Amino acid sequence: MQNIGIISLGHYLPKRKLTNSDLEKMVETTDEWITTRTGIKERRIAEKDEKTSLMASKAAKEALKDSGIDAHDIELIVVGTTTPDSNFPSVACWVQKELHAKKATCFDVSAACSGFLFALTTARQYLLSGMYKNALVIGADKFTNLIDWNDRSTCVLFGDGAGAAILAPARGDHKIYSDYLHSYGEFGEYMQIISEEREPLNQKVKEMKIPYAQMMGQELFKVAVNSMSEAVEIVCEKAKVKIDDVVCVVPHQANDRIISAVAKKSKIPKEKFFINIDKYGNMSAASCAIALYEAVKEGRIKKGDYFVIVAFGGGLVVGASLIRW
Ligand code: ACO
Repeated sequence: MQNIGIISLGHYLPKRKLTNSDLEKMVETTDEWITTRTGIKERRIAEKDEKTSLMASKAAKEALKDSGIDAHDIELIVVGTTTPDSNFPSVACWVQKELHAKKATCFDVSAACSGFLFALTTARQYLLSGMYKNALVIGADKFTNLIDWNDRSTCVLFGDGAGAAILAPARGDHKIYSDYLHSYGEFGEYMQIISEEREPLNQKVKEMKIPYAQMMGQELFKVAVNSMSEAVEIVCEKAKVKIDDVVCVVPHQANDRIISAVAKKSKIPKEKFFINIDKYGNMSAASCAIALYEAVKEGRIKKGDYFVIVAFGGGLVVGASLIRW
């Protein structure tokens, strides 16, 4: 059985910034509240025509350019997203069209903020089985489409973006060593999209536009910390890599306080965690993918380093991978 590695990365961020002081003019909030409770200073907001598929395609083009693989030779495209342009075609099929990747099999996976890791692990299994030779994996979300801009408890948290990775047979030790995915359906109501089919938990919010994201922040916080710490431990154990040998952790960027708590529980110095939540907020499936892109570009992950990507999101779902760059 051959090994699979990430051979290149790409990303896309909308240009429009929304700062905490902009939000102060929209809802009853303060820069101080947002910064101390979450670590977020600003986020990117996609324009109407910057659809999820457009952001995903732009990130994919950058990753392809660096991979040396021609779009015509890509065999599998998997996109982690919960904000497709519409129910179907899938974002992956729109990306295929944009790239002229005619050989590819394409589909989306729905795992909220863990979407990139669920897509990565799914694609890796297909490659390990020998069914496909390579894959384009994307985490992309236009989560601000699901935000009620009158709800201060959620509108300050999210932003938009896309990140991409090309998976191919590994060169030497530079491979994905282990991965872990798990779900806690019993806690689904902690973070859900209210729709015609799904009633809000709270009568008070009944008049809000549909669909919108409803969150039980404190309950989520606890599951996030416990499940992400456990996931880090599991992928290290599976890979037989000591936690101390992990050079960098690339966590989902939902809240700086969650990252601090995961660092403490996992006994990993917080300095090893790559954090960009201040610039982008929570970009759902795109968060981990863009954080990985920036961690590599900024030299926080160098050739030969072991690193862990770990994410948590609505579902509830958790995922992690231990990788050597
Ligand atoms: N500005 C000012 N005050 C606010 C704001 C705001 N933007 N939002 C809420 N408040 C108020 C509340 O109304 C409340 O006021 P009250 O005490 O008078 O009732 C007070 O601040 C405290 O609110 P809490 O919800 O208790 O604040 P908390 O410290 O828990 O922080 C937060 C909230 C940031 C949401 C935190 O709970 C969190 O990060 N939870 C986890 C989120 C997460 O994991 N998301 C990942 C999944 S997302 C996905 O899958 C797509």
